[in-house]
Amino acid sequence: MSMAQVIHEQGPPEVMRWQEWLVPDPDSGEVCIRHTAVGVNFADTYHRAGISHPWTVPPRPCVIGFEAVGRVEGVGSQVSDFKVGDRVAYGLPPLGAYSEVRNYPADNLLHVPDHLDDKQVAALLMKGMTAQYLLHRTYKVQPGDTIVVHAAAGGMGLILCKWAKALGAQIVGTVSTDEKADVAHAAGCDFPVVRSKEDFVSKVREVTDGEGAAVVYEAIGKDTLQQSLDCLRPMGVCAAYGHVSGPPDPVDIIQDLGARGSLFITRPAIMHYLAKRSDLEWAARDLFQAIADGILEANINYEYKLEDAVQAHRAIESGTTHGATVLIP
Ligand SMILES: NC(=O)c1ccc[n+]([C@@H]2O[C@H](COP(=O)([O-])OP(=O)(O)OC[C@H]3O[C@@H](n4cnc5c(N)ncnc54)[C@H](OP(=O)(O)O)[C@@H]3O)[C@@H](O)[C@H]2O)c1
Repeated sequence: MSMAQVIHEQGPPEVMRWQEWLVPDPDSGEVCIRHTAVGVNFADTYHRAGISHPWTVPPRPCVIGFEAVGRVEGVGSQVSDFKVGDRVAYGLPPLGAYSEVRNYPADNLLHVPDHLDDKQVAALLMKGMTAQYLLHRTYKVQPGDTIVVHAAAGGMGLILCKWAKALGAQIVGTVSTDEKADVAHAAGCDFPVVRSKEDFVSKVREVTDGEGAAVVYEAIGKDTLQQSLDCLRPMGVCAAYGHVSGPPDPVDIIQDLGARGSLFITRPAIMHYLAKRSDLEWAARDLFQAIADGILEANINYEYKLEDAVQAHRAIESGTTHGATVLIP
């Protein structure tokens, strides 16, 4: 028996209960992991609240949590790539990271390179692998491209800004406060725009001589999606990878995409992009290299005990945080 944040029903942060949780022996393809650091992602709040992604949340009672780092304590009979004592990490479902100990499928598990510490990886793995596929596959960013990054001082936003800058992009980033504008600017965002003070569509037009951006990394959803489409150049890509303000209104392919210039829109998800082991390893390899090269750093600004996960969720849902949050078992 070990402890975990268990949800018996979906709802506000307080539905998470710190309680004993039975972990059986690992199945043949699983590894038993004792966590040392757990990453907090905005998607955890969706899973807890039942806002979207119902297919990823196990039947209640269950434990949520997308990513963690830890040590292997046991391996199933068919597992050959991992052994007891290995330092490992994951950033894909099945959910269950908000726990001291859990079983996890070896197929989705990664070894942690020696030069990275546990908290760094917990803060960066899932968000970093998401940034890798967004910047290299959803739209392949080229030197000189102008791109738009929403919530540019958030966990995803900072990683996208730093990595896109290293790829040679010019970045327009949106934020809610002057303080966050400074944080985004320090991370490589060329033109931070405080959304309540300045129109980001006009800013994009101004810095591209009217042409528009090659891609918008759209994480806000309901409040910004239509303006994001207005930012794009003809044949530009809207990568609507998140919706922190709520799911956006439906998009009309004729008026919203066709009339604005043959635009593309997609709702990318890490589970699809990294479903193949080769793609998971590609994303992790690029991410670990980017950290080693000094392009990315963890930006851990908030650290809570795992038993205080309720406070962590209240904080990220308030929209006032910047950078990454980790939980320590
Ligand atoms: N599709 C994928 O594969 C994938 C993978 C990872 C993450 N995501 C998504 O990416 C999004 C960002 O995740 P994250 O971990 O970077 O989150 P985060 O660090 O908590 O950042 C979210 C930011 O969004 C902004 N925001 C705007 N309106 C908001 C509202 N109504 N409530 C809360 N925040 C609001 C805030 O920045 P400002 O104050 O500057 O506006 C806030 O700091 C989430 O939707 C997440 O699910 C998707």
